[in-house]
Amino acid sequence: MRIDILTCQPELLDGPFSHSILRRAQDKGLVEIHRHQLRQWAVNKHGQIDDYAFGGGAGMVLMMEPIVRALRELSQERTYDAVIYLTPDGEPLRQPLVNRFSLLRNVILLCGHYKGVDERVRQHFVTHEVSIGDYVLSGGELAAAVLTDAIVRILPGVLNNEESALTDSFQDGLLAAPVYTRPAEFEGLKVPDILLSGDTPKVEQWRFEQAVARTRARRPDLLPHDDGAAPLPAPRPRPKK
Ligand code: 6GU
Repeated sequence: MRIDILTCQPELLDGPFSHSILRRAQDKGLVEIHRHQLRQWAVNKHGQIDDYAFGGGAGMVLMMEPIVRALRELSQERTYDAVIYLTPDGEPLRQPLVNRFSLLRNVILLCGHYKGVDERVRQHFVTHEVSIGDYVLSGGELAAAVLTDAIVRILPGVLNNEESALTDSFQDGLLAAPVYTRPAEFEGLKVPDILLSGDTPKVEQWRFEQAVARTRARRPDLLPHDDGAAPLPAPRPRPKK
């Protein structure tokens, strides 16, 4: 997979991709992450990429021209499956959307700044709009880092067995069960007996129940909701042929 990030603050993304799992994924050739300074495509020699909003009001708006020129230049080299604009009014990012993005080959992430980007970019060039939560960040860069991390860690070959993504919170629609490690007792605080029993089916059942209980307590919105409708009738026996 290849991820191209368009930003006027590429330095903000120096850290997140240089360490740990994202570093390893790039070293293994499983993902290419490229950052591009939007000012490369500035409209004049002063490096201008934004301007006042028509109609007035505070805040600068990223201009169409630098963004469209950047998109066209990149698109000459390869076909992009998605142009994702990071914005607080985008679609809330959840695991199923991450999973879908992880199946794409080439994607562009566009980071907004100031008051955002000219609406015509969003309408005619952006294919997806994503928000990472209901709060405001100073720019799309940290959101792009979050999205990139979420995508890359589930690419095949990135995580080893110990780090497996299959038991993550959300991957099965539930929060993860609690985990413990040695010692089995610390200052009188004990690990649940079942985890020391060696009875794997029982442990799996316990973990599932814990995950459901934790999800019900903390995030009931993730569970299929009880809308008061009558339960489904029991399936009828199939007629024998
Ligand atoms: Cl994607 N961008 C910004 N600037 N703020 C956000 C966000 C994105 N998602 C949540 N808050």
